[in-house]
Amino acid sequence: MEPRKIVNVCFVCLGNICRSPLAQGLFARLVAAEGLAGRVHIESAGTGDWHVGKLPDSRMQATANKNGLHLTSRARQFRRDDFDRFDLVLAMDRSNQAELTRMCAPETAREKLKLFRSFDPQGNGGLDVPDPYYGGNDGFDEVFQIVQRACPEILKHLKTRFLDTP
Ligand code: 4NP
Repeated sequence: MEPRKIVNVCFVCLGNICRSPLAQGLFARLVAAEGLAGRVHIESAGTGDWHVGKLPDSRMQATANKNGLHLTSRARQFRRDDFDRFDLVLAMDRSNQAELTRMCAPETAREKLKLFRSFDPQGNGGLDVPDPYYGGNDGFDEVFQIVQRACPEILKHLKTRFLDTP
């Protein structure tokens, strides 16, 4: 495949106020630190529409802030035609993945849709980034740890698969 100028990535969870905004923010920070901000376009979305327009959940914001990261995205719902705009759609859990699979052709799912935790080097804890919404603060810290571990692997994947840069 020809190396791309820009690769487009979308992180998707259920509400787009906890897991995927954190992934968007942490991944954007990593990409910028590697000087690739102009080459990777990053968004996030939710499969549900309950929180459209909202900032990330205050508990997710607090966990991010503790780690020097400020989350500014606004929730939106993933749309069928987002599959045309993105090269890689990363589902935060298997339920999100199942929902997204229903929204696209099988070959699109095969090419573009992946489970976020398939990039977690310690993925033996299961395939889902656990939904922290109804739990305590520990859940948000756990989400942070998982997302932080997986982001460098996702970037490696983009570099070799799309960007042709070391
Ligand atoms: P997220 O977390 O999918 O990581 O944004 C959730 C946010 C809201 C709800 C569930 C999960 N909710 O049921 O409203």
